[in-house]
Amino acid sequence: MKHVANLKDFSAEEINAILAKAKEIKANPEDFYNALHRKTLAMLFQKTSTRTRVSFEAAMTELGGHAIYIDWTTSNFVLSGIEHETEYLSRNVACIMARLMSHSDLQKIISASQVPVINGCDDLFHPCQALTDVLTMSEHFEGKLSDAHLVYVGVQNNVSNSLVTICHKLDIQLTLATPDQDDNGQSQDADTQAIIQGNSKVTHTSDPKAAVQDADFVYTDTWIDMQYFNSPDHAAENKAKLKKMAPYQINAELLQGVHCKIMHDMPIHDGFEISAEMTQDERAIIYPQAENRMHAQKGLLWWLFNS
Ligand code: CP
Repeated sequence: MKHVANLKDFSAEEINAILAKAKEIKANPEDFYNALHRKTLAMLFQKTSTRTRVSFEAAMTELGGHAIYIDWTTSNFVLSGIEHETEYLSRNVACIMARLMSHSDLQKIISASQVPVINGCDDLFHPCQALTDVLTMSEHFEGKLSDAHLVYVGVQNNVSNSLVTICHKLDIQLTLATPDQDDNGQSQDADTQAIIQGNSKVTHTSDPKAAVQDADFVYTDTWIDMQYFNSPDHAAENKAKLKKMAPYQINAELLQGVHCKIMHDMPIHDGFEISAEMTQDERAIIYPQAENRMHAQKGLLWWLFNS
């Protein structure tokens, strides 16, 4: 049984098989209407979500299965041991997808589960987003992705950690244009840092202007973790971070004359990590990227049950 905690223990062949299946299902959805007939996915959320919740639920519906949304705070996960609730849950469903505050909680769920567990984003990794991103890049790049250059501009976090992993696996050139080489704060991951230091195609720079000049894709994500964005307790910290990050905003000046596609995993904070006009720029592929969450996850769900 394979879990999707991150993409570290997936081979390039396995990742490519998931992406190929995602493309096949996207092109011929009616051929897969019964692919997961009578299978139920439990979707457990400690944090807010739009895309992860909607895309997994829609994917299960369109594959002939069913999805149950479980809010951590209104379930008995909030009262009992995570291992007891997970053991119970995995006796009623075919797969568990969890969005959690902490990767250590995900590991507890994996330990207690009798069915595959998918990480729907935690403090360290966002593997489903990375699968989506590479699927999207493959649709907007002529030629092999090993010839593409992805530039991630902003702060290192769970999303960039998973991009580092998948680009390393698939031999895609990735430049992280962020203030510091190891500025991924609460998302610090030793394996990710080892890749940045050891893979000549996955590099770091603190100069976003230089980094984007030959980019095929320029990608950004929120500068502030979602749970802290509107928190009064973090107001001063957020203000300082926004000031530090201002040179890393995706805007018309940064991308002047650059022939790239603009990516963002959403949710977008207009005027912070990206200017409002860049979200509507003709180079932006943000909405097709977001739509691909469902297609990538169909490929992943199919692969988990059929590999
Ligand atoms: N990109 C992403 O995971 O979106 P949500 O937080 O809305 O699920």
